[in-house]
Amino acid sequence: TGQVALDIGFVNTASCTSEITYIDGDQGILRYRGYPIDQLAGKASFLEVSYLLIYGELPTADELAAFDQRIRRHTLLHEDLKGFFNGFPRDAHPMPVLSSAVSALSTFYQDSLDPFNQQQVELSTVRLLAKLPTIAAYAYKKSVGQPFLYPDNSLGLVENFLRMTFGFPAEPYEADPELVKALDMLFVLHADHEQNCSTSTVRLVGSSQANLFASVSAGINALFGPLHGGANQSVLEMLEGIKADGGDIDRFVARVKAKEPGVKLMGFGHRVYKNYDPRAALVKATADTVLDKLGGNNELLDLARQLEEIALSDDYFVERKLYPNVDFYTGLIYRAMGFPTRMFTVLFAIGRLPGWIAQWREMIEDPATKIGRPRQVYTGPAERSFVEIAQR
Ligand code: CMC
Repeated sequence: TGQVALDIGFVNTASCTSEITYIDGDQGILRYRGYPIDQLAGKASFLEVSYLLIYGELPTADELAAFDQRIRRHTLLHEDLKGFFNGFPRDAHPMPVLSSAVSALSTFYQDSLDPFNQQQVELSTVRLLAKLPTIAAYAYKKSVGQPFLYPDNSLGLVENFLRMTFGFPAEPYEADPELVKALDMLFVLHADHEQNCSTSTVRLVGSSQANLFASVSAGINALFGPLHGGANQSVLEMLEGIKADGGDIDRFVARVKAKEPGVKLMGFGHRVYKNYDPRAALVKATADTVLDKLGGNNELLDLARQLEEIALSDDYFVERKLYPNVDFYTGLIYRAMGFPTRMFTVLFAIGRLPGWIAQWREMIEDPATKIGRPRQVYTGPAERSFVEIAQR
């Protein structure tokens, strides 16, 4: 009919069907393949949850061991890819470094270009899961001017990542098991979230039949923005800003309510959750234990707690159903673990990777998939006649 419906930001429009993740935003429910997030978090490992998301079922012990072994064999980066890291300015933000390196995987693995070759898709899946933590650690090492560490494949994914990030060559590094457990759990909480901005980007790019690496690289760039994954960095910067302002929370909240340009309560609000984000509840509990154990910055944690309390009883936030989201407390935990603020969104990317892969594979296998091509409502000038430059 030529009629199109306008839906800015896709508030009401579903772009696909999916069997992967279920969210009920009013009730604060999140399930991966039917399993409630609070049953998975702390019980199933990140690798187990990755398997669940990608293959649809929880693995048996043997299946998990085989999956783990395959991933461990692919953690190395091609030596030439390592050269990439030196091409970026030393103070480069690690997120664009991450997306560039993932994009470059298509050049090192040209066998990955056909999205319908199932064997290659399987290989790309394993390569990505195995190499992203190595890429992330190298982005960090580069930013602090320290030497890269080769992966140690006697270690699991999270331990290996921590060692490559915080370890030094020829020095033993033993990750604190509590820290490994907490980071693994945070990755589980981030592992998928149905059609959010980055995942929709992965699907949209993939719908043109671009390969997995190209699609995930685009997803990483979408995650970079402060309204999405970049929020965890912004929350910490916001808390530090309030602290620098003498800890005056009321003044900050007043600025948010006055809608000063660029001033939002970061880590609050969500397109789908209009009740407490179930991930935020689990993160908050972890923040308490991890910060006690690691002796993190309790001053900022106290500030965050007070800010949450004030916001939750303020009409502005109540009326708009604004609650803390997953990003509100994660930054405090990451900081206590020793990560610099700029690495926070990289950690989100490592966590979200299995979700992107699962969604891309579901998209490519679905016979109903068509190239993503939104329509528009044109609001420009009506037809007019060209005027020669001399007559303008
Ligand atoms: N602080 C102050 N006001 C807010 C906030 C906030 N964080 N979030 C929404 N609002 C207001 C907004 O101004 C609007 O007010 P009004 O009705 O008077 O115009 C109302 O609440 C509805 O907000 P919206 O912008 O229409 O909601 P949205 O669904 O388009 O945006 C959001 C969702 C997450 C982008 C937004 O809440 C936000 O910017 N939050 C801060 C950034 C953030 O924490 N992002 C992380 C999201 S969760 C993890 C992830 O996806 O990475």
